[in-house]
Amino acid sequence: MAPYSPPTAGRAGKLRLDFNENTTGCSPRVIEFLRGHISAEDLAVYPEYGEARPELAAFFGVRPEELLLTNGTDEAIQVVLNTYVDDGDEVLLLRPSYAMYRFYAEVAAARIREIPYRAETLEFPLEELLAAIGPATRAVFVATPNNPTGTGVSLDGVEKILAQAPGAAVMIDEAYYEFCGVTALPLLARYPNLLVSRTFSKVYGMAAMRLGCLFSQAANIAYLRKAQSPYSVNALAALAARAAIRDRDYIARYVEEALAARALLCRELDRLKIRYYPSQANFVLVHFGARAIEICDRLREAGVLVRDRSYELPGCVRITVGTREQIRCLTAFLEEAL
Ligand SMILES: Cc1ncc(COP(=O)(O)O)c(C=O)c1O
Repeated sequence: MAPYSPPTAGRAGKLRLDFNENTTGCSPRVIEFLRGHISAEDLAVYPEYGEARPELAAFFGVRPEELLLTNGTDEAIQVVLNTYVDDGDEVLLLRPSYAMYRFYAEVAAARIREIPYRAETLEFPLEELLAAIGPATRAVFVATPNNPTGTGVSLDGVEKILAQAPGAAVMIDEAYYEFCGVTALPLLARYPNLLVSRTFSKVYGMAAMRLGCLFSQAANIAYLRKAQSPYSVNALAALAARAAIRDRDYIARYVEEALAARALLCRELDRLKIRYYPSQANFVLVHFGARAIEICDRLREAGVLVRDRSYELPGCVRITVGTREQIRCLTAFLEEAL
C-alpha cells in the first residue's frame, strides 16, 4: 500500500488554506480553560472521560452510551473497520474522497470497491452506490459534504443507503457538518447499521488535539469500545472539547464568516472566469487546468498554501475558506499568479 504523507511541513506563519482547518484558531476560551486545568498531577494520571462523555453527548443530543470519543475521525474509521470488517470483506468507498478510508481499509486487508463521483458535476453518485451494495458489503464510508468535492448527499439519500445495506456498517462522516447543517444523527434510533462521525479538527480549530466523536446505537458502541484502546483520547483533548462546546457563539460567528468568505471566493472566481464546483463545506474545489501545480507553487512562494488535487482530479486545486480578509489576500496573489 502507498503511505499517506500529507504535506504538513513548514506551514507555520503562512496563510493556511490547504487543510480545511479553522484558519483563525480555536476559541480563546479553550486556551484559558486548558491553562486553568493543567497541573503536574493532571498530567501524571491516565485520562478519564467521566465528565467529558456525558457533557459532549448532551451537546450532540444523544445518550452517553451512544457516543465513542476517538483520537480524531481517523481513529473512528480504524475502529469501525477493526470491529466489523475481516480480511477479504467488501468495503465500498467513493472516489475521490477522504484518503484515510482507503488507508485503513487497506490495513484491514478489505476488498475495496470504489464508486466514482459523477463526472463533470462531481455530484454524489447515489444510484451507482445503491446498485453496488450487495449481500457481501460489510462497510460503506460516505463523507457528506465530501472532501475534496464539497458536494453532499441528502438525508433521503442516506436513508436509501441504510435501507439498501442492512448487513453493513454505514459510516456517515460529518466532518464539515457545521457548514451545511444536514445531519444523519436523528436517524440513529431507526437504523442499527448507522454510524455518524463528527470532529473537533475543523470548525472547532483543534486539529492538533485529535478528537472525534462517533455516534451509533448503544449496542454498536459497546462493540466498538472493545476494539479501542481505553486511553486513545488524551486528557487535554477531552478538556478542550468541553470548553469548545460551551462557546457556541464563537462557532456560529466563524461559520457565518466562512460562508461569507466562500461566497466572496466564488464571486472572485466568476470574475476571473475560473471554473469551480459549488461547495457545501469550508473549501472550494477550483479548476485551474494545466497550470494547477504551477499556480499552487506560485501561491506557496507568496506564503499562501492551497492543496493540489490534480493527481486525482486533473487540473483541480482545493482552497479552504476562512475569513473574507484572507480570501481578499488570496485573490490578490492569485491574480498575479494567473
Ligand atoms: C471528510 C473528512 N473526515 C475526516 C477528516 C479528518 O478528521 P480528524 O482530524 O478528526 O481525524 C477530514 C480531514 O481532512 C476529512 O476531510
